[in-house]
Amino acid sequence: MLGSGKGSNFVALAEAIRSEKISAEIVLVASDRAEAKILAHARERELPVYQCRRSAFQTKLEPEIEEELAGALAKAGVELVVLAGYMRVLKKPLLDRFCGRIINIHPSLLPSFPGLKAWEQAFKARVTQTGCTVHWVNETVDGGAVIRQAKVNVQPGDTAESLHARIQEAEHRLLPEVIRDLATGKIEWREDPRRR
Ligand code: GRF
Repeated sequence: MLGSGKGSNFVALAEAIRSEKISAEIVLVASDRAEAKILAHARERELPVYQCRRSAFQTKLEPEIEEELAGALAKAGVELVVLAGYMRVLKKPLLDRFCGRIINIHPSLLPSFPGLKAWEQAFKARVTQTGCTVHWVNETVDGGAVIRQAKVNVQPGDTAESLHARIQEAEHRLLPEVIRDLATGKIEWREDPRRR
């Protein structure tokens, strides 16, 4: 699992596995940011963690740093790479090595509101319904084929923050469900999402 932030989706997934709702194993938790809470949560659970070397960029990794990350994931025996709040665009090292085996969770009903702070974009656009999406990852930002979505209604009195909180609750259900269904074969795996 790969993340740059607070790791609430990691916690939801780890809990679903612990309570045996999902038959899966988190073999490595990786982050591009040393201070990311996701790493602390993983350490608390005594799961293996990997921290990328410092990058000069904000939105991508240098090819050699991404190559090291891809190598660490491969060495750990990763079958599925799960991005949850990983804030960098994936490039060839990861996309080539894990082609068709990388998913991401995004806080909107894609293709609406790709990019940053999608809940705020939706709130400002005054939509009545938004949600979250799990999709296959390709080289476009939030652009790979949709696997499954969960809808969240905008309620009277909502703020962008209260909406975000409900979207995150929906994420914490959706992501483990998708991983469960990939693990059981109910959702078909992609060979090459970049061909779409
Ligand atoms: C989630 O809202 C996800 O949709 C987005 O980044 C956030 C990560 O949250 N891509 P967390 O680190 O799992 O709490």
